Amino acid sequence: MSNMVKKFAQAQGGMQKGNITKYKPYPLVDLPDRQWPSRSIVSAPIWCSVDLRDGNQALPTPMGIKEKLEMFKLLVNIGFKEIEVGFPSASQIEFDFIRRLIDENLIPDDVTIQVITQAREELITRTFEAIRGAKRVILHLYNSTSPAQRRLVFGLDKAGITGIATRGTRIVKDLVATVPETEIIYQYSPESFVLTELDYALEICEAVMDVWQPTPDKKMILNLPETVQISTPNVYADQIEWFLRNMKNRESVIMSVHTHNDRGTGVASSELSLMAGAERVEGTLFGNGERTGNVDIVTLALNMYMQGVDPKLDFSNIKEVAEVYKRCTRMDIHDRHPYAGSLVFTAFSGSHQDAINKGMAALDPTPGALWEVPYLPIDPKDIGCSYEAIIRINSQSGKGGVAYIMESEYGFQLPKEMRIEFGKAINAIADERGEELQPQEIYQAFEREYLQRTSPFKLEGFHSEEITDGAGNTTVECIARISVDGNDREIRGQGNGPIDAFVRAINEAKLADFKLVSYSEHSLDEGAEARAVAYIQIQMGDGRNCFGAAIGTDIKVASINAVLSAINRSQA
Ligand code: KIV
Ligand code: ZN
Repeated sequence: MSNMVKKFAQAQGGMQKGNITKYKPYPLVDLPDRQWPSRSIVSAPIWCSVDLRDGNQALPTPMGIKEKLEMFKLLVNIGFKEIEVGFPSASQIEFDFIRRLIDENLIPDDVTIQVITQAREELITRTFEAIRGAKRVILHLYNSTSPAQRRLVFGLDKAGITGIATRGTRIVKDLVATVPETEIIYQYSPESFVLTELDYALEICEAVMDVWQPTPDKKMILNLPETVQISTPNVYADQIEWFLRNMKNRESVIMSVHTHNDRGTGVASSELSLMAGAERVEGTLFGNGERTGNVDIVTLALNMYMQGVDPKLDFSNIKEVAEVYKRCTRMDIHDRHPYAGSLVFTAFSGSHQDAINKGMAALDPTPGALWEVPYLPIDPKDIGCSYEAIIRINSQSGKGGVAYIMESEYGFQLPKEMRIEFGKAINAIADERGEELQPQEIYQAFEREYLQRTSPFKLEGFHSEEITDGAGNTTVECIARISVDGNDREIRGQGNGPIDAFVRAINEAKLADFKLVSYSEHSLDEGAEARAVAYIQIQMGDGRNCFGAAIGTDIKVASINAVLSAINRSQA
């Protein structure tokens, strides 16, 4: 640690309170008639991945050639047409990787690689050696332009800094002739653009353009980076709109933006700058990059998609993209990361689950039909995620979630009122356990609560038949053998159907005092031996309501068992 750093490290820490003098707000752009707030994003920009450069520079363990090759392939498969592949003058690995791409013909015809260099002659020369033989290359030159960088890092005034940029551009221009088989597209970035006086940023960019001489047919790229975020994203959008309105030879330039995420608004900055007229976006997968990262292109692209705009990048298998990313970068993806986190399509809260359950049930299954499910901004299946994890159960969950699991995982369509009853039972278990319940634990609870209720009453045999009296009236008579606390009883009853006859038989034998409130059934599987489930709601003499359920291949027997399940539960 240097003495100076030590001096600051020993100073008293903690946040300043009240009148904060240590930091100051960033000035606004004077642009009262700004247009961007009333625009929207209607088409995909040109995307440039900087995973292999800006992203890689920020990794504790930078990618080796193997990882870089795997990442490059992934980026190509996703659909990136511009990929910044490295900083060839910075290290041998960077240089060798680019040579490998070119020498082994690994760059598809419709993909343009980009290489970055500082504006120093020996670095530019080395960069040209790295790209020899490539079909098309974006040569990206940058130098830092903010007052702090000018003063503290370079000790130069504006003219000195402009000189770095224009001299570097001239060197690049002269070296183009040494790679005749390569089409060179030139890109210039005034690094720390957002901290640079706008009029000076424009001045240096125009000075570079004067040297390069771009035309509408042979445009150059101006990349205006939000190197470190220092203001709300509207200020960046203002800066981009101001720049585009004031620059000369606008039609000879592709306006590119490159945002970072220090204030957590990298995505917002990129989005607003697209509204302000930017045409190209640089960023990385899942926002890897220096400090808090570069802008996350996955989020940007899927934000467009969920607004009905084709992002021209394919994240149909986001899990695979995430796996390759994690393997190559050795970085993790947060559970709540937009679109890609393991929990982003999961609802634990009862009211959310209820709404999702209803939304999913109401969906029009026609392919391409409008997606409208509360709390799910996009269909998880579009990006290769399943519906399985949409609803998970813990103590925050409610009846809708439990019903969803019972139906989606096990095929039980619980009656509405029964969902409340079973939801409470599950809630009590989750509360006691204090952790998430897995679907099979919910099913086991259903079995315990309803299907395995055979005490005190257990059905041992059941027979029913229709009888018609002389006047032609038909009733059903039943004989049931039931075990009551282990002792066999035979009971008989008559009614308008087997269940009604059985309910009467129980009541007349004074085994229980109740009436039938509702009955429903549905099949659980298909085929000759298909099982069905019967749900029964009864009201006891004291007014209490209780559900019972049973399953079986004979629906008549299942419904009688469901009655006994309800009575047994009422007596527990
Ligand atoms: O963040 C930045 O300013 C950069 C430039 C080199 C474009 O990465
Ligand atoms: Zn950057």
